[in-house]
Amino acid sequence: MSHNTFSNIASTTSATDGCPASPKRIETFGVVGAGLMASQLVLLFAERLRIPVTLSDISADRVAGAVKRMRENLNRQETKGRLQPGEAAEIAELIRGTTDPAEFSSCDAAIEAVFEELKVKRTVLRQLEESVAPDALLLTNTSSLSVASMARGLKHPERVVGFHFFNPVAVLPLIELIRTPFASESTVSSASDLATRLGKTAVYVADSPGFVVNRILTRLFCEILTEIDKGGDPVAVDSSLAPWRLPMTPLDLIGYIGPAVQRHICDTLHRAYPDRFGRSASLDAVVAAGIPGFFNARGEVPPAARILPSEPHGVDPNRIRRRVRDALAEEAQLMLDEGVVATSEDIDRCMTLGANFPAGGLTRLLMT
Ligand SMILES: NC(=O)c1ccc[n+]([C@@H]2O[C@H](COP(=O)([O-])OP(=O)(O)OC[C@H]3O[C@@H](n4cnc5c(N)ncnc54)[C@H](O)[C@@H]3O)[C@@H](O)[C@H]2O)c1
Repeated sequence: MSHNTFSNIASTTSATDGCPASPKRIETFGVVGAGLMASQLVLLFAERLRIPVTLSDISADRVAGAVKRMRENLNRQETKGRLQPGEAAEIAELIRGTTDPAEFSSCDAAIEAVFEELKVKRTVLRQLEESVAPDALLLTNTSSLSVASMARGLKHPERVVGFHFFNPVAVLPLIELIRTPFASESTVSSASDLATRLGKTAVYVADSPGFVVNRILTRLFCEILTEIDKGGDPVAVDSSLAPWRLPMTPLDLIGYIGPAVQRHICDTLHRAYPDRFGRSASLDAVVAAGIPGFFNARGEVPPAARILPSEPHGVDPNRIRRRVRDALAEEAQLMLDEGVVATSEDIDRCMTLGANFPAGGLTRLLMT
């Protein structure tokens, strides 16, 4: 495709357009999972909405650890003057941890942020449906899985909507709002209203693998990882996109997301589009070694694991930039052709608000 085809499309659609049904008022919230994302979501809901929030996990230790870290976070914010004196304790009072899903009975809405595995998420949503209020909104924070597959088989699939936040939750303002064919207008309207109350920007995205931000980022990672798997010097390959002034290099970003989480996303996209999203031996090796990323704290490739080529060859950064740019242009055009979003501006908005791309988003990057 030509870059112009992608950048010429003009109008834009946001989740605040065209939602006639009146939104449901949410006064109590439930969050399932006490991991990286769930802890940030609990803090956001309690701080922004000032409503009771219940957090649950299968692991009591994880619940206790998450509640402790949230209290510390609130106290730090108060010490720094971001919260008024006494506010940290007030917000902490709103947060309750449990391992018993039945404690969600009074929740008007709940979000799951458990492992990125369809089977686990379906089980959690089935349990949630039984325990929350009969008309509660059911949200999933999945990064890449089919929301319709999660909703199918529930007693009330019309209550489910994808509500995909980005890490760090307090900083990145995007929510990808994923409608399924089952979702009622009232569900979608309530989710859109909730996003606004949280101070976030929701963009409607089709229920398609990886949605927008992760599909673009994962295509970028695949191109970079292929160069490394073929023996390219990892440091040189990783720094080849520096002129684009992205917030992080690709390998640093994989470390930040978490190599295992990113591999789950890669697997989902590989299953959907095997020709464009190849598997990576080096990413597999990083995950198998259980290390937090490709580089250690000194920015060096960890010597112990034979993860990356032992005698890497030099690379031409211009060629790698051309390769990545062509791949992203192709992916963006396919997303528009498939109707994943309505317009190229939607993709730009997702990439700036959800991945901190420089102003102008993907379009500007493709034009450089
Ligand atoms: N990591 C990111 O940057 C990021 C960004 C956006 C969305 N997400 C998505 O958010 C979700 C959570 O990701 P994470 O990085 O917080 O994972 P995580 O591994 O840090 O946390 C997952 C938590 O889920 C709990 N859990 C597993 N099965 C459970 C069950 N049946 N009931 C209750 N709790 C259960 C685990 O004990 C764990 O505490 C995933 O769907 C992921 O794709 C992650």
